[in-house]
Amino acid sequence: MNRINPYLLPALLLALLNCHCALPREAGREEDPPQTPAAEMNGRLGKGMNIGNTFEAMPSWQSPFDPQDMKRIAGLGFSHVRIPIRWERDDRSMASAPYTIYPEFMDTIRRVVDEALKSGLHIIINMHHHDGLYADPAGQRERFLSQWEQISDCFRDYPDSLLFEIMNEPHDNLTADLWNGYAKEALSTIRKSNPGRCVLLGVAEWGGVDALQSLEIPDDPHLILTIHYYNPFHFTHQAAEWVEGSDAWLGTVWNDSEVEHEAVREDFRPAKRIARTGNIPVHIGEFGAFSRADMESRIRWTRFLARWFEEQGFSWAYWEWNSTFGIFDPKTDSFRTGLTEALLGNPL
Ligand code: BGC
Repeated sequence: MNRINPYLLPALLLALLNCHCALPREAGREEDPPQTPAAEMNGRLGKGMNIGNTFEAMPSWQSPFDPQDMKRIAGLGFSHVRIPIRWERDDRSMASAPYTIYPEFMDTIRRVVDEALKSGLHIIINMHHHDGLYADPAGQRERFLSQWEQISDCFRDYPDSLLFEIMNEPHDNLTADLWNGYAKEALSTIRKSNPGRCVLLGVAEWGGVDALQSLEIPDDPHLILTIHYYNPFHFTHQAAEWVEGSDAWLGTVWNDSEVEHEAVREDFRPAKRIARTGNIPVHIGEFGAFSRADMESRIRWTRFLARWFEEQGFSWAYWEWNSTFGIFDPKTDSFRTGLTEALLGNPL
C-alpha cells in the first residue's frame, strides 16, 4: 500500500499553502480596491508646499507673496502648492447677502492660481480661518455656501490640476457632527459647476487624526481625505506665541527613536483603516515644526515624516514656505537647506 511518509507531511502542507498563495489574485478582492480618479490625482499631488501666512494671514503677520516663488517651488521638485485663503476679511467679501466676494480679491487669487499652473504645479485653494463659521455655524451657513458657489463658478473651466479644499481645520461650534452636514452641502454646491474636480475633505476638531472616527465620507470618486499632523505637539509647537503655555515645552527634542516612530504609526492606524475601507486616498495637508525647536530635531522629524508618508502612499504639503516654519528665508533670499533636503530626500 502506498502510504504518505509522516515525516513529509509538514513539507506537503507547506507546499499546498504556497500553491494557494501563488494563485492569481481574484479581481475585486477587499485588499485590492479599484483605482479611483482621486487616487490617481493623489499620486500626481506627491510632495507639496503650503504658501502659509500669506492669503490667510492678517496684515500684521502676513508674509509677502512673490510670484517667482512658484517657479522656485517647482524648480526644487515639489509638485503642488496649497494656498490657505481667508475669504472672510471685510475688504475681501460681503458679510451680508448676497455675500459677494469682491472681484479684485477673486482676481488676486486667480493670478496666484495662474502663476502656479504656469510653473506646472498642481494647486489647492481652500477656506482658512473662517472664524465666523466656527463660532456661529447656523448664522454663517448661507455665506459659506454662497462663497463656495462663487469660487466654484469662477474656476469651473480651470484644468483638473486645480483642487478645492472645503475648509481648514473645522473646530469650536462647527462640531464633528455638524461638519459632516456642512461638508456635504458644500460638496453638492461645488458639484453643480465642477462635477469632476478633485475636492479635499478635512477632519473636525482642528483637522488632525483625533476626530477621524466621526467623519462621514460622502460617496464621491473625486474626494481626497486631508489630515494635519503636528505630533508630538509639545515638540512642533514649543514656544509658539499663539499656543498658550507653550514656552514650558521649549527644549523638547525629536530623537528619531523607534518609540517615537511607533507613536506616529499608532496615530495613523485609524486613518489607514478608513482610507482602506472607504477607498479614499490620503493627503497630509499640513505638517511642520516651529522655528523655536532645535534645527537638528526639526530636520530629523521632517525627514522621518516625509519618507513615512510617502511609504504609506500619502501625498503631503509641508507647513510652510517662507515664514517661521519655512524652508525659504525671503530676507536673505536663501534656503534652509537641512529642512529642504529633509523634505525632498536629496541634496540641493
Ligand atoms: C494655521 C497657522 C499655524 C499652523 C501651525 C495652521 O493651520 O493656519 O496659523 O501657524 O497651523 O500651528
